Amino acid sequence: MSEIRGTQAVRKIDPEKLPRHLAVIMDGNGRWAEQRSLPRLAGHQAGVESVREVVRTCRELEIPVLTLYAFSRENWSRPPWEVRALMGLLSRYLRSEIRELKKNGIALKAIGDLEKLPQKVQDLLVRTGAETATGREMVLNLALSYSGRAEVLQAVRHLIRDVQQGRVEPDLIDEPLFSRYLYTAGLPDPDLLIRTSGEFRLSDFLTYQSAYAEIYVTKTLWPDFRKKDLLAAIGEFQNRERRFGLTGEQIREKKTLSNR
Ligand code: IPE
Ligand code: IPE
Ligand code: MG
Repeated sequence: MSEIRGTQAVRKIDPEKLPRHLAVIMDGNGRWAEQRSLPRLAGHQAGVESVREVVRTCRELEIPVLTLYAFSRENWSRPPWEVRALMGLLSRYLRSEIRELKKNGIALKAIGDLEKLPQKVQDLLVRTGAETATGREMVLNLALSYSGRAEVLQAVRHLIRDVQQGRVEPDLIDEPLFSRYLYTAGLPDPDLLIRTSGEFRLSDFLTYQSAYAEIYVTKTLWPDFRKKDLLAAIGEFQNRERRFGLTGEQIREKKTLSNR
């Protein structure tokens, strides 16, 4: 029954107006556990099922890029046992999903200061990335040990090096060129950014790339976020008027012209 309802909800989604890149701040695992008097780890574990469902649904809808904020640079300052548990969960997730990702043509990528991750996790990321690299249907991009500000700074450092070595002419530095130095090189900017658990902040997630992302905040905690919640977010995204600085009238004119 829920499958039938799910299918009907998918039909309400306009395939012509899907985000090319969906980015998600998966927040609220700790509070989900707290509400049930469970240890925080139980919330993180329950959140893995939400990850599976969101990945499956994005693949089904044919959304080309999904970025999940799984671990921020600031999260390194959490209690060591929690950091260890999160790294363990991540390893288990990668090991258990590799076949499913391959079967569905999903290429796994990771962005962030990956060298800070435990060697075992780095190795698994390299292996999963290599084994799924031929996937053409979707990119699943995990933000790990990630900070948007750090990403911009490392881009600047690399760019300066290239300028010093004569590979880049400073006057020719524009936004497309700069984007090639970001972790997200080659990926479109996020069109839709979802944050669960009701917090209205970016927490340093894709700060440069989200300049014109539509932001959707839901009170639903990440472990409760399922297919219907994702479809509701996409439904709202499709009803928003993205103006990119123009007037509403200009946007309507553009639409009429492109429909001719
Ligand atoms: C998100 O849930 C998962 C990570 C940040 C790794 P939280 O652990 O932040 O959950 P809350 O915000 O404490 O409820
Ligand atoms: C953001 O959540 C990071 C991830 C979801 C991985 P946090 O829970 O760490 O963010 P703050 O501390 O509420 O800003
Ligand atoms: Mg949180």
